[in-house]
Amino acid sequence: MFFVETISALNEKLESFGSFVTVGFVPTMGALHEGHLSLVKQAVSETNIVVVSIFVNPTQFNDPKDLERYPRTLDADLQLLEKTGCQIVFAPGVNEIYPEPDNRKFNFGELESVMEGLHRPGHFNGVAQVVSKLFEIVKPEKAYFGLKDFQQLTIIKNMVAQLNLPVQSVPCSIIREESGLAMSSRNELLSAEERKNAAVISETLF
Ligand code: PAF
Repeated sequence: MFFVETISALNEKLESFGSFVTVGFVPTMGALHEGHLSLVKQAVSETNIVVVSIFVNPTQFNDPKDLERYPRTLDADLQLLEKTGCQIVFAPGVNEIYPEPDNRKFNFGELESVMEGLHRPGHFNGVAQVVSKLFEIVKPEKAYFGLKDFQQLTIIKNMVAQLNLPVQSVPCSIIREESGLAMSSRNELLSAEERKNAAVISETLF
């Protein structure tokens, strides 16, 4: 498994695998759990070269405090990824992805003004900015997203259509804790009691 932090190092590694390979891509913000690993494993089973990105994208956080406290666990993430069989981990710094501010404004109509979009203004625009950039950098045939973030997946499919990007977005099953709570990096921010209470969401849905 190769660890790269720059676009040029990533390109060099990708080129070394030759041109007759299918590239699978799993974009993440790190703090990896079984949910992410299931995406990587699916990518490994369906493509030849799997790139996992770890990048906490500032443009999708509408609250600076939320960005600051987002869990960052790079060493543990790399240890987990080693076991998945992915070939490249791409962990760029902010200046690598945004050498200049990204002022693009996507229009997702109603898709971004309901549910999570209603409570996190600008969030999905930031997701579209970073994922479109990452798609252009990694140039994958297939990219893997968890169905846990159903609205995000829908927005990304819409963004791919708007920009005519040659990427297939593959939806992947939700992985749950024993309590039924969907696995999420943000669960780490919950107290034991909050975590217990959060299981009510899936209980109610089921
Ligand atoms: O789902 C996430 O972790 C992020 O929104 C993504 C897709 C990696 C973009 O930063």
